[in-house]
Amino acid sequence: MSQDWQQLNTAIIKLLKEARQRVLTKMQDPLTVAEKSNRKDLVTNVDRANEKFLIAGIREIDPTAQVLGEEGFGDELTSLDGRVWIVDPIDGTMNFVKQQDNFAIMIGIYQDGVGQLGYIYDVMNDVLYHGGPQLGGVWADDRQLAAPADIALADGLIGASGPLVIHDVAHMQEIIHVSSGMRVLGSAGIEMINIMNGKTLGYISHLKPWDIAAGQVLLNELGVQVSTIDGKPLDMLSSNLVLVATKKAQRDILRIEEDDVSL
Ligand code: IPD
Ligand code: CA
Ligand code: CA
Ligand code: CA
Repeated sequence: MSQDWQQLNTAIIKLLKEARQRVLTKMQDPLTVAEKSNRKDLVTNVDRANEKFLIAGIREIDPTAQVLGEEGFGDELTSLDGRVWIVDPIDGTMNFVKQQDNFAIMIGIYQDGVGQLGYIYDVMNDVLYHGGPQLGGVWADDRQLAAPADIALADGLIGASGPLVIHDVAHMQEIIHVSSGMRVLGSAGIEMINIMNGKTLGYISHLKPWDIAAGQVLLNELGVQVSTIDGKPLDMLSSNLVLVATKKAQRDILRIEEDDVSL
């Protein structure tokens, strides 16, 4: 790893630790909750304040980079040229509001469209997952993670987002039927953590760039596949129907998709 990336990593970890402390403090006070597109799509004062805090910190660390933030305090991105930071200030806002648990702060760093570093901070458990090609591995705090076992769809649990299952998008019910079972956690970041820890073999969800930017870097580094549901690379400027899976499970799921001529 070059000196530059090492320094960047140290600065990001410091920034994220501060961000976590601020979130914990703000959680002591009543939240201001607003609806975005519908009653299940929420934003709170803490999401907004945390994004502002993170982006101000990123501008100090890396003044010439572009920053994409979910709540709109970053840049309007039209390309992935140069260094791009992608920020989700609170991933799992519904969990944050309803459970005060099971949410994450996430940052992914890309260089000319290629993932370099990823950070998923499990706030309530105080574990920071970080790594990527520039660090040569993935760590949960100081503990380096081993690659999860490459198990087939039939041999493990799969995470999914509720609406995909309810509407049976992309043969979700068939995929779940073939798997050992489904789990729905309500935070893409916490789902990624479970995959990194080998608790689930994959995850399927409609995701925006900030939902998957960090996870894609971390999971690729651990040999887990991240693609669209039909096996193509993600478009990191748009939303994607994302399939995250072990190599074997990805093969099994793509086969289920291909077998359906109506797709
Ligand atoms: C959401 C969560 C959720 C996923 C949604 C995301 P947010 O992120 O990750 O699990 O199903 O698609 O939008 O809005 O809470 O940051
Ligand atoms: Ca949101
Ligand atoms: Ca999110
Ligand atoms: Ca969010």
